[in-house]
Amino acid sequence: MSVLSGKKIILGISGGIAAYKTASLVRLFIKAGAQVRVIMTPAAKDFVTPLTLSTLSKNPVNSSFYNEEDENAVWNNHVELALWADLFLIAPATANTLSKMVSGSADNLLIATYLSAKCPVYFAPAMDLDMYRHPSTLTAFEKLSAYGNIMIPAESGELASGLSGEGRMAEPENIVAFIEKHLEDALPLRGKKILVTAGPTYEAIDPVRFIGNHSSGKMGYDIAIAAANEGAEVILVSGPTHLQLKHDNVKLLRVTSAEEMYNACHEYFANVDVAIAAAAVADYRPKTVASQKIKKADAEFTIALEKTKDILASLGEAKQQQFLVGFALETENEKENARLKIKRKNLDLIVLNSLNDQGAGFGKPTNKVTFIDKDFNEEDKELKAKEAVAKDIIDKIKAHYNV
Ligand code: CTP
Repeated sequence: MSVLSGKKIILGISGGIAAYKTASLVRLFIKAGAQVRVIMTPAAKDFVTPLTLSTLSKNPVNSSFYNEEDENAVWNNHVELALWADLFLIAPATANTLSKMVSGSADNLLIATYLSAKCPVYFAPAMDLDMYRHPSTLTAFEKLSAYGNIMIPAESGELASGLSGEGRMAEPENIVAFIEKHLEDALPLRGKKILVTAGPTYEAIDPVRFIGNHSSGKMGYDIAIAAANEGAEVILVSGPTHLQLKHDNVKLLRVTSAEEMYNACHEYFANVDVAIAAAAVADYRPKTVASQKIKKADAEFTIALEKTKDILASLGEAKQQQFLVGFALETENEKENARLKIKRKNLDLIVLNSLNDQGAGFGKPTNKVTFIDKDFNEEDKELKAKEAVAKDIIDKIKAHYNV
């Protein structure tokens, strides 16, 4: 999933021949899952039609302070447009538009919106090579960068004038890759490795039967996604679930038994910064696994069980610098039991969910948790979707790292 997914993007187009490439740019943003609104300078309309861009962006295109599409609206509110955006890209940014951005000369909707924007602003210059090298252009680049705007350098190649050199607007694919990388590098958990366990484990009785539980794995998968969206590199060790997860930052390792989950966790634990144990690991497994399917014979049948390894406790023992988060599912003396578990398993944080809370727990889309840290500070959260609980957990990790 692209870091641009769900982002609201304003694409500001000024009047240069490279404007014809903005149709591809809009397509790429939409494909990445972004919402796009286009603002054009009047001159840009000579190079590419608003109809093309509104069709591709699925939004009306604005180019003047007056809303030509809606006779009831008095004007296009540049402040509202600017505040809507998560990011603003001006491409192509012509010499004229760059100079207006520097001076704050708001004589068109694009510049007025730019001046109102609070989000990151990227600009992709496009002009002939001598214009690109002109001291006034170089000064504009410097000033705009000093104002906090982000320049996407032009590329070299054949120019519309017939000359060849620097000044060609970066290719749409390169612009998108540039912005994605820039956003990814700025994510708060960039550079952090997080191990997450999820789902149930299945403990074999014979080749066709097992002992398992009703865990859907959703909580752990939501945590993995929330961490990955904040830039962390996630190793998700998952017991058997029907859930799928495809994310550039998530490595998904599927296991079946507690023993396999234990081995997978210890393979990675030494090199991670954070481990979050959201799996519902079986506490017991059959002492022996029958090599053939067990036939029914007697009226009663007993399976001898032995304890599985406590993965979380073993991570607590091996812990060095890692921030270790466990879950506790309790039905009585909840907080007292959770505090004991923090000590026993050497945790930094426990996420307590009580089965006494309606809507919390296995197979439900919601959860109601209390955070208790290693100093026994408590934070009760309200009932919310598991995605939102996952975000709260990741916020705790961010707070730990002051990011
Ligand atoms: N856990 C684990 N390995 C196990 C059992 C549990 O890693 N073999 C982890 C779970 O992922 C969870 C935490 O330990 O993060 C709490 O598990 P829970 O079953 O609530 O508690 P237990 O420690 O098993 O204690 P009890 O069953 O007595 O409540």
